[in-house]
Amino acid sequence: MEKVRLGFVGAGFMGQLAHLANFAELKEKCEVIALAEPKEKLARAVAARYGIPKVYRDHRKLCEDPEVEAVVEVTTDFLHVPIALDLIEAGKHVMMEKPIATCLEDARRAVEAARSRGVKLMVGYMKRYDPGVERAKAILDELKDSGELGEIVFARAHCLCGNWTCNIGQPIRTDEPTSEVRPRLPEWLDPEDARAFLGFNNVFCHNFNLLRFLAGDAEGVRFAELSGPTKVVVLDMGGYAATLELGGISAHRWEEHTQVYFSHGWVRVDTPPPMLQQVPAEVEVYKAGKAREVVRPVPEWEWSFARQAEHFLDCILNNWEPRSSGEDALRDMELIEETFRRFFRKPEGPPKSIWAKRRISRG
Ligand SMILES: NC(=O)c1ccc[n+]([C@@H]2O[C@H](COP(=O)([O-])OP(=O)(O)OC[C@H]3O[C@@H](n4cnc5c(N)ncnc54)[C@H](O)[C@@H]3O)[C@@H](O)[C@H]2O)c1
Repeated sequence: MEKVRLGFVGAGFMGQLAHLANFAELKEKCEVIALAEPKEKLARAVAARYGIPKVYRDHRKLCEDPEVEAVVEVTTDFLHVPIALDLIEAGKHVMMEKPIATCLEDARRAVEAARSRGVKLMVGYMKRYDPGVERAKAILDELKDSGELGEIVFARAHCLCGNWTCNIGQPIRTDEPTSEVRPRLPEWLDPEDARAFLGFNNVFCHNFNLLRFLAGDAEGVRFAELSGPTKVVVLDMGGYAATLELGGISAHRWEEHTQVYFSHGWVRVDTPPPMLQQVPAEVEVYKAGKAREVVRPVPEWEWSFARQAEHFLDCILNNWEPRSSGEDALRDMELIEETFRRFFRKPEGPPKSIWAKRRISRG
């Protein structure tokens, strides 16, 4: 079988533990042949660990390497688009970590570039590849078609986070300094508010994305309350409302579910902590009316990140459109910008968010 010759950009926490570890196992479908990472000692140590023959300090070397067909990009949010644009221009297929960008303009540029260059652009919304999420999606599609439980009347995405790493272990680390990166922000955003916007976009883009995958696309944002530590967003789903309840507590578990309500029941998906391996989302299907039953299907025990890696390779080998394409991710970015642009008010008093403590100015 033909194998995809892969390059990697970024060998930090996620690059090593969520991505390289999985692609390295997919030996029948790919070969990781090059790694670009500015921290030299780190790059060499990670390359040695995974048997990667070529090491570069800069992703531009990957662009020039004719052997590299596709690249997995796992750097920082501000760099996803600038790096992807170079790779796309060089004709490489790209899978980038989420979020697609930190401003809509960048997201559009990446999607347009991939479209005109004819390469795949996939965004790492791994929850869409969780076996439990897949099962819930199939059940929801069936219920929407059959009308068995009536119309959808409400949907909810709830994420108060908690422990997301679940003892996955430590990546290789070195004492090399992390390079400064120029912030990329929406034009309309006051840099004073960047921390709130970037933290929200970084973490909760997952919930916009998963809600749209399961319930269907949103028409727009009706309302949002963003001033407190927990944010509430109300989406217009064209005929019904969906809420997103988003925040962070120090739970010793992972507090996240997505629920789609019909007139006569619901489908609920409890997604696992992101780094918990081999544990799928739990699915509950409640049929009210005459059926009066609760069904809990048992999905395969597989890790969403592993299945996501295989999907990216399958998209290249079979010329499929990625399930979490750049084009689809554009809609999340649009909704997130709309949420902030229309409803963000400066909080009174000291910031309460537990994320992104750094103050960010336009650089
Ligand atoms: N899917 C998820 O659930 C999930 C969870 C956490 C983080 N993430 C995303 O993963 C990404 C990476 O997060 P992380 O925790 O691994 O960060 P990290 O800081 O541990 O790693 C980033 C790596 O990129 C390297 N890097 C920086 N500039 C580079 C450049 N120009 N070229 C090549 N490499 C460069 C850094 O040296 C570092 O090693 C972020 O975008 C984050 O949003 C996703």
